[in-house]
Amino acid sequence: MIVLGIETSCDETAASVVGPDGVLSDVVYTQEIHTEYGGVVPELAGRAHADKIVSTVRAALSRAGIERPDAVAATSGPGLIGAVLVGLCFGKAAAAGWGVPFIGVNHLEGHLLSATLEPNRPAFPFLSLVISGGHTSLYLANKLGDYTVLGETVDDAAGEAFDKVARMLDLGYPGGPVVDRLAAAGNPHEVTLPRPQPKMRAPRTPSGHRGTRALDMSFSGLKTAVRSHVQSPQRASDADVCASFQQAVVDVITDRIQRAAAQTGVRRVTMAGGVAANSQLRMALESMDMEVCLPPRHRCTDNAAMIAHAGRLRLLDGEAHGLDRGARAQWTPGVA
Ligand code: KG4
Ligand code: ZN
Repeated sequence: MIVLGIETSCDETAASVVGPDGVLSDVVYTQEIHTEYGGVVPELAGRAHADKIVSTVRAALSRAGIERPDAVAATSGPGLIGAVLVGLCFGKAAAAGWGVPFIGVNHLEGHLLSATLEPNRPAFPFLSLVISGGHTSLYLANKLGDYTVLGETVDDAAGEAFDKVARMLDLGYPGGPVVDRLAAAGNPHEVTLPRPQPKMRAPRTPSGHRGTRALDMSFSGLKTAVRSHVQSPQRASDADVCASFQQAVVDVITDRIQRAAAQTGVRRVTMAGGVAANSQLRMALESMDMEVCLPPRHRCTDNAAMIAHAGRLRLLDGEAHGLDRGARAQWTPGVA
């Protein structure tokens, strides 16, 4: 089955064709209009998706050498609702026009399953960390569609913390890649920063869980500690601040993965989402005494190959959606 995937949940307009032998095309257009605002402006994102969706889908089909796929998969949430709607409506219309099945895909499930698109794919069950600008959650993936949230951030997403630290240092948006680059030249022990553990009885987490779990994370206190340091007279160099901040994030993540492995007995781990492109985080995971399967960096940030892949797995499992499939701003993976 050859599936066209469409992704428009945030600021990437992306289309990809995936078949039984893997990815046939993978087109990602990153909207640059948001850089001048220091963050994604939802209304501008929706308009830019509407401008680019036709040319992006055409490019994906032509690079794959096909005129019509066997099915269409499009992100139907979670994300910026006006942005999600563009790809979702386009995907449903294209599927109806071609007379092929349609499936709406959970963007987070796309990230969560990204590693299973690779040749050295992990077998179920595995631990999957989805770490991006909007989400930071550690899942136990038991089988397709069966995911348990073991822990998640109770405040900022890790990528959001990278972006906010970059803004404090005037490094531009998105901050993650710049912090990653600068940190390589810095001393991670120069600035003493906390490794926050959420306090008990934190408010409801993004997936609706009440109360804290041992594997939950918090990045907002870390970000505040960086701000206090940056405003202090003993301010270290940007490289040292970036290295110290990044080290703290990596320490928190590796601690939670180790605890998750001990808690579940599952020693197979993967991650995806923009922050999974981080050099130091990748090295830290690769050096863990576990079976580690990381998607390449370009499949960690938002892309449509993961949407085509997740949609294809579910279609092969007998699932499909009608044209009444709606867009969702919030949606925990594995929930119908
Ligand atoms: O998954 P993604 O492309 O979009 C969503 O948020 O869904 O993730 C974007 C986030 C941004 O916060 C960006 O700063 C961060 O991923 N990011 C990184 C790196 N590359 C992107 N963070 C740390 N290191 C990187 N190399
Ligand atoms: Zn994403």
